Amino acid sequence: MTITVEPLDAPLGAEVKGIDLSAPMDDSAFAAVRRALVDHLVLVISGLPGDFQPLLDFGRRFGTLVPHVLEQYHHPETSEVSIISNDPSTGAGRTTDMPAGAFWHSDLSYDANPSDASMLYSVDVPDVGGDTLFANMVLAYDTLPEATKQRIEGLRAVHRYGYRGGAAVVGLNQEQESGHPDVRHPVVRTHPESGHKALFVNPGFTVRIEGMDEDESRELLDELFDNATRPEFIYRHQWQPGQLVACDNRATMHSATGGYQGRPRTLWRMIVGGTGLGKRPGVADRRPGAGKDG
Ligand code: SIN
Repeated sequence: MTITVEPLDAPLGAEVKGIDLSAPMDDSAFAAVRRALVDHLVLVISGLPGDFQPLLDFGRRFGTLVPHVLEQYHHPETSEVSIISNDPSTGAGRTTDMPAGAFWHSDLSYDANPSDASMLYSVDVPDVGGDTLFANMVLAYDTLPEATKQRIEGLRAVHRYGYRGGAAVVGLNQEQESGHPDVRHPVVRTHPESGHKALFVNPGFTVRIEGMDEDESRELLDELFDNATRPEFIYRHQWQPGQLVACDNRATMHSATGGYQGRPRTLWRMIVGGTGLGKRPGVADRRPGAGKDG
């Protein structure tokens, strides 16, 4: 299998061509894909049939796929896949006023061990609307004024599930909530594979900066978010059916955009567990052969 990687005309992202999930992918071909994710932070792979098992097997090659806390949206086959949909016929249609993920976030930053990467596969997408935005958090860090870089060096921030996701957030039940206490992570992360520094705060889940009073923390976070969401740091993905988009959650954040009310949209999402910052709390785990996680 010959893999080619073509950078998108965007501040992050690349299109990967040559992937055929119906055929075995040797280790060197997969290593090229893995490297492309580290280099470009977002990968777009088009023309993939919606066969569940090959997609799942491909996702598993990136690392351990972890179940999302919202068990009610797990795919019936395995908790390694969640269904993101507004379509009740999927058995997982969301009823929130805003679509799932319609706020800037990095998946599982509210976990003690935030995820390394996410993969979204488009099962059914509307002709218009439903784009997903991805922000390059390396650029967001690099372009900060020197004084701000110095100010945030060594700081930690508190993250919480659903903190500022507003009407896009599905609340946790008591058990889910008790498994997800507030967690603290560095405001600046050094990517373990690229060595690049990236901002690791996001408007959806970051509550405050530790050791600052509320006003000071909010002012600093808003400054960081304003920089991170400058249009020149964002790639806007317009979905076609049969696409898999992967993002490196250590150095990006993303947001759904909506704009497709009344038209069905269904994605499958796989989340690659973290290898970096801590231990993950308990989430019901129905991976084949797995016991209770955490
Ligand atoms: C997500 O935040 O994981 C979902 C993004 C989308 O539905 O566009």
